[in-house]
Amino acid sequence: MSTKKRQLEVITGCMFSGKTEELIRRLERVRIAHGKILLFKPTIDTRYDTNSVMTHYGRKFEAHLLALSEEKLEELERIVGQKAIAEADVIAFDEGNFFSGKLPDLCQVLVALGKRVIVAGLDLTFAGKPFGSMPTLLALADEVVKLQAVCVKCGEPATRTQRIIDGKPAPADGPVIQVGGLEAYEARCRNCWELG
Ligand code: TMP
Ligand code: MG
Ligand code: ZN
Repeated sequence: MSTKKRQLEVITGCMFSGKTEELIRRLERVRIAHGKILLFKPTIDTRYDTNSVMTHYGRKFEAHLLALSEEKLEELERIVGQKAIAEADVIAFDEGNFFSGKLPDLCQVLVALGKRVIVAGLDLTFAGKPFGSMPTLLALADEVVKLQAVCVKCGEPATRTQRIIDGKPAPADGPVIQVGGLEAYEARCRNCWELG
């Protein structure tokens, strides 16, 4: 049954590829099956709402904020209570790319406790480098889905995220973390993706 799978699932891809949409789709199915769900998102990304995860298309799911470098079982228990953790069938994390190197270990601990763990996050930074702990999570995962967006330049499948500054490609040596949406980022294919 979908709520009882004891495994790590990773949903990855570039921006606008529908990662959070896919995460919410899986969580809604668990909810229909009366499974207990806990969703966490990093404190860093307060783009739309602090109490929920929201997709670029406006779909929402309630979430708890988890501070960076606090990715530990005790901290999850502090936030939602020991009972909620014990009873949870599915524990999910959105924006996995922003969390610290502690997230993979936490996911392993949760799976060992019998949880189905789902992480959604960017595989690559705007500069085309593997993002944070995502490479490790992808390696540890039992199941991986890599979604594609549509290249805004040519309409082919997009696998890269283009950061735009003042209408131009951002230089590769810019800060890795810059929260944003359509005003600063585009989905592009490998051919159309460029660094400033
Ligand atoms: P999304 O995967 O839900 O579209 O959200 C990605 C977030 O990550 C968004 O706030 C922009 C941010 N981001 C960075 O901070 N650095 C990057 O290199 C990229 C590509 C995105
Ligand atoms: Mg998202
Ligand atoms: Zn293209």
